[in-house]
Amino acid sequence: MLNLSEEGLLFLVRNYYDVFIVVVFSIGVTFLVSKIAWRSLDMTTTSYRGGGIPGRLGLPFVGETLSLLSATSSIKGCYEFVRLRRTWHGKWFKTRIFGQIHVFVPSTEGARAIFSDDFAKFNKGYVKSMADCVGEKSLLCVPHEDHKRIRRLLSEPFSMNSLSTFVQKFDKMLCRELKKLEGGGKSFAVLDFSMKITFDAMCNMLLSVTDDSLLRKIDKDCTAVSDAMLTFPYMIPGTRYYKGIKARRRLMETFKDIIGRRRSGKESAGDFLQSMLERDSYPPNEKLQDSEIMDNLLTLIIAGQTTTSAAVMWSVKFLDENREAQERLREEQLSIARARPDGASATLEDFKNMPYCLKVVKETLRISNVLLWFPRVALSDCTIEGFEIKKGWHVNIDATCIHNDPDLYAEPMQFNPSRFDEMQKPYSFIPFGSGPRTCLGMNMAKLTMLVFLHRLTSRYRWTVDDLDTSLAKNAHIPRLRSGCPITLRAL
Ligand code: HEM
Repeated sequence: MLNLSEEGLLFLVRNYYDVFIVVVFSIGVTFLVSKIAWRSLDMTTTSYRGGGIPGRLGLPFVGETLSLLSATSSIKGCYEFVRLRRTWHGKWFKTRIFGQIHVFVPSTEGARAIFSDDFAKFNKGYVKSMADCVGEKSLLCVPHEDHKRIRRLLSEPFSMNSLSTFVQKFDKMLCRELKKLEGGGKSFAVLDFSMKITFDAMCNMLLSVTDDSLLRKIDKDCTAVSDAMLTFPYMIPGTRYYKGIKARRRLMETFKDIIGRRRSGKESAGDFLQSMLERDSYPPNEKLQDSEIMDNLLTLIIAGQTTTSAAVMWSVKFLDENREAQERLREEQLSIARARPDGASATLEDFKNMPYCLKVVKETLRISNVLLWFPRVALSDCTIEGFEIKKGWHVNIDATCIHNDPDLYAEPMQFNPSRFDEMQKPYSFIPFGSGPRTCLGMNMAKLTMLVFLHRLTSRYRWTVDDLDTSLAKNAHIPRLRSGCPITLRAL
């Protein structure tokens, strides 16, 4: 047996210390790598123990990010990433994206648990690029107390009854624009049409901006801001983030000018902005600072335009594929249009009394899932439906999965507005979310769709000129790549 004395050991260390360091270093690295690999493997297989959620976390940081990016840039859209994992792992699954663990929550019980504890046990994750783009005072970024106050003050102009003027203006604008397209039988993309008209109507309602060159300038800048919201936040010229931040600065200047003219008395209007400025003399918790007004003007435009236009586009597509529903809708709309005195414009009351049209709107929102899932972060360890969620994990309320669940909706892929004859189970219909963050523009979005469907079906028939069902690439809101081109024919 080899018997090393203390001197012998010292001799070896002194003369071979470089080899010694390499050996110790290698053992250390091997130990660390195997520990990380074991942890990943452990996380991957926790599904098979109590409370664990199935799923693959993959390598540290990278996880399954590349698969998500690849689905997002394909014509199947980013939900394909979720759909595939659900077929592999079951309804509940977890994954790792950009270094964060995400759990997709597929049930009404899960949605209830998260929505009812929003801000207390869950919150929106802080995304720097988003806060830089829409502003720190945006409803999407402010902490709980500010959120409650800002939301309360912003809400009134978006209540059903306050939207009466919006409805009448939008109706007139829509009739004029559709008339232009009816002659000549020219094909146009519904998506482009609805993007422009919803934007113009929103700017009119919020700021009374009607000048076309100013509208196009604001529209271009809002698109740049919206494109920069989920990017790497580095000011490198040419990047989407850089262009978005520059666009935000221009928009803030424009809003500041308009506010300045209103305060100096040079201009006045009966719009959303005016109703906010009229609070100038109120106590601090009853009014908004200018930065709060401006950040939220931008937020409202960005949150409202793409969502509403995508929903309008899908309603046209679904009604084209479901002629029975289209005819039933047309009958209802013609009877409303005929009941109005000749030349009279549509009123808010007309739109409150269109039961079938409202069901078409709901069914469109259920199937199209304009917002696919709603992200939150767990603020502490918790358990939902027996599944353990750790503090810091992202939980995504998967509205798409809930809306497509055959236990909640028979033949879920069938477009069937009459399914809304029956009452929905709680948290089974959540296109506008729920709880303290429920969509602020919900009434406005529904009314926009009702007005659009009223005018389209009571005055026209249409043919869809491109039946391709591919989705637009790199879009977080699902929409057809073709934009759904149609040709109108007057009735
Ligand atoms: C069909 C159209 C629309 C859909 C499907 C939709 C959907 C949603 C959903 C699901 C949320 C909640 C997200 C979450 O919980 O994380 C939300 C929030 C919001 N929406 Fe909408 N939206 C639409 C149109 C609009 C319009 C027209 C506006 C304004 C003009 C608007 C303004 C907002 C705002 C400001 C929030 C944030 C509310 C808060 O955090 O308190 N949305 N929307």
